[in-house]
Amino acid sequence: MTTYLADPATWQESWDRQQEAFLPDREERFAAMLSAVDAVTDGAPPRVLDLAGGTGTISLRVLSRFPGAQATVLDQDPALLAIATASLHGRATIMSADLRHPQWSAELPHREYDAVLTATALHWLAAERVAELYAEVREALRPGGVFVNADHMPDEALPTFTKKLMTRAAALRSARYAAGAALSWPDWWARAADDDFLAPLVEQRSQIYPSAHHSAEWMPPAAWHIDALRMAGFTEAGILWRGGPDAAVIAVN
Ligand SMILES: C[S@@+](CC[C@H](N)C(=O)[O-])C[C@H]1O[C@@H](n2cnc3c(N)ncnc32)[C@H](O)[C@@H]1O
Repeated sequence: MTTYLADPATWQESWDRQQEAFLPDREERFAAMLSAVDAVTDGAPPRVLDLAGGTGTISLRVLSRFPGAQATVLDQDPALLAIATASLHGRATIMSADLRHPQWSAELPHREYDAVLTATALHWLAAERVAELYAEVREALRPGGVFVNADHMPDEALPTFTKKLMTRAAALRSARYAAGAALSWPDWWARAADDDFLAPLVEQRSQIYPSAHHSAEWMPPAAWHIDALRMAGFTEAGILWRGGPDAAVIAVN
């Protein structure tokens, strides 16, 4: 077994391609998030919590757009966090914590984040837990700080059209896999399991996420999230960005 991850940038890139197969407009939602951060920091280097940040894709973009930013990547997947550690290379704090439990925030290095950003992750949690988590996120934000959650949030007013969009997206995704343009989720994990350094971490991960994918696939509309954010005490909540069946909701503390 090697003691370091060879070519972290390559793993980072292959993760991004794998995620983009699901979310062709992934960079657009990240750009919208970063503009929200910019709006509440007036050009000062922000303090950002990358919640369920995986390999740290969002933190890498934060550091590139805002030199001097302080980023924290929090996740519980040891393999993805190892890629984050190697690709961020000392430029961010990397933390392991489980968002299913309120203690997730106990070891955070800061309490006054300008922004908490999360993407394609909270649908892994149960509805009641997401609502509680929103209140806990507020406690990690400074007054006036923002929370952005980008995820699958279908528009309830467009049920048949959303189905068509998703069917077409699935066909295009299959075509990309067939052409070798990106790895599928199971193929990406199989590659990681073949890497000397990542293999034991992928094994640890299988104890954390015992099913082949993940436990929950729970996708309420953006309106549900906006209500839950208001209930959690945020002063304003609404839609920051929308792309087909996905949206990013924003809430101001
Ligand atoms: C599809 S990935 C997205 C990662 C990253 N936000 C991105 O956009 O590349 C979902 C992430 O949520 C994390 N996650 C899911 N449930 C979690 C939990 N209970 N605690 C911490 N992280 C969790 C997973 O480990 C995974 O890294």
